[in-house]
Amino acid sequence: MSFTSALVTGASGFIGRALVSHLRESGKRLVAVGRPTSVLPPAHRQIKLEATSARVIAEALHGEAVDIVFHCAAYGIRPTDREPARMLATNMAATGAWVEAAAALGAKAFVHVGSCSEYGPIAKPERIRESHPLDAKDLYGASKAAGGRWGAALARSLQLPFQWVRLFGVFGPGEAPHRLLPYVYDRLYRGERVDLTSGRQWRDLLYVDDAAKGLAAAAVIALEGRLGPFNLCTGEPVTVRAMAEEVARQMGAPPELLDFGRRPPRADEPMWMIGDPSFLANAAGFRHSIGLSEGVALTLRALERERRASSMAER
Ligand SMILES: NC(=O)c1ccc[n+]([C@@H]2O[C@H](COP(=O)([O-])OP(=O)(O)OC[C@H]3O[C@@H](n4cnc5c(N)ncnc54)[C@H](OP(=O)(O)O)[C@@H]3O)[C@@H](O)[C@H]2O)c1
Repeated sequence: MSFTSALVTGASGFIGRALVSHLRESGKRLVAVGRPTSVLPPAHRQIKLEATSARVIAEALHGEAVDIVFHCAAYGIRPTDREPARMLATNMAATGAWVEAAAALGAKAFVHVGSCSEYGPIAKPERIRESHPLDAKDLYGASKAAGGRWGAALARSLQLPFQWVRLFGVFGPGEAPHRLLPYVYDRLYRGERVDLTSGRQWRDLLYVDDAAKGLAAAAVIALEGRLGPFNLCTGEPVTVRAMAEEVARQMGAPPELLDFGRRPPRADEPMWMIGDPSFLANAAGFRHSIGLSEGVALTLRALERERRASSMAER
């Protein structure tokens, strides 16, 4: 079973944009949704709104029928976005509004993009499974977990299949400039020292196109009644240090520019955040296809293109 049309919230974001592009290339009819200030990617229909209630959404969509709603919009991904009221409004209340609107639009499933931040701390370094308690200690993780729970409960009451998919680390073209790879690239390109933490944190890093493919695969199995929650990740531990060193190696930059230990670690930053991808692999046959080295190469190429385009525009 597959689907022919989809709506993507947060379509202007890093993952929303990659998902829209993947679904468009797969021939789906697409509605891309953002907030009033968002810059949306090309789609069959673009809608900008403040998703304050299901009624507001239904009015803006004007009877549009979609098979799947992918809910990518969230607040708090940037570490500086920490307003609790906005976090709750976006990550919980708006998730509920989108679930109700999806049911009203006749959607056959709702794919909710969750996060590894929803999980509570782990006692020892092992791959986190979906059964791990949702006991986030920070506001962002707690609001994401609350939004997933609220959305799931509402969807159940509306008999709408709710596919909760928790991403771990995602990297690739289109990432915000403050994130590790674009930051390291920018500094090394200028020949400047790169201020980094010790880099000993272990992360699970999925290339963004694989994230888009995994979300689409999770939608397909939701239509067949196979529901998660599912982790969407590689299961392969990589240190932040190894990632930064790979960027420097591929750029041919002197590794001494990577100043590990210069920055203090973030107080709430876990040292180990690796997911177990096997549940989704077994249910959907999904496995990531792009490894770290290839993903870094593709991202560096995209950053180079962007840099050349902006320097041409400045001339
Ligand atoms: N990136 C990762 O490594 C990662 C890891 C785990 C989970 N996730 C999850 O993946 C989803 C997408 O994340 P992303 O990396 O694509 O983040 P992103 O690039 O920051 O995009 C966030 C999206 O949400 C929208 N948004 C932000 N604040 C909003 C608000 N108050 N009301 C309505 N929309 C708002 C943004 O719109 P504007 O463009 O207008 O700002 C954008 O479209 C999120 O649910 C996040 O929790 C991401």
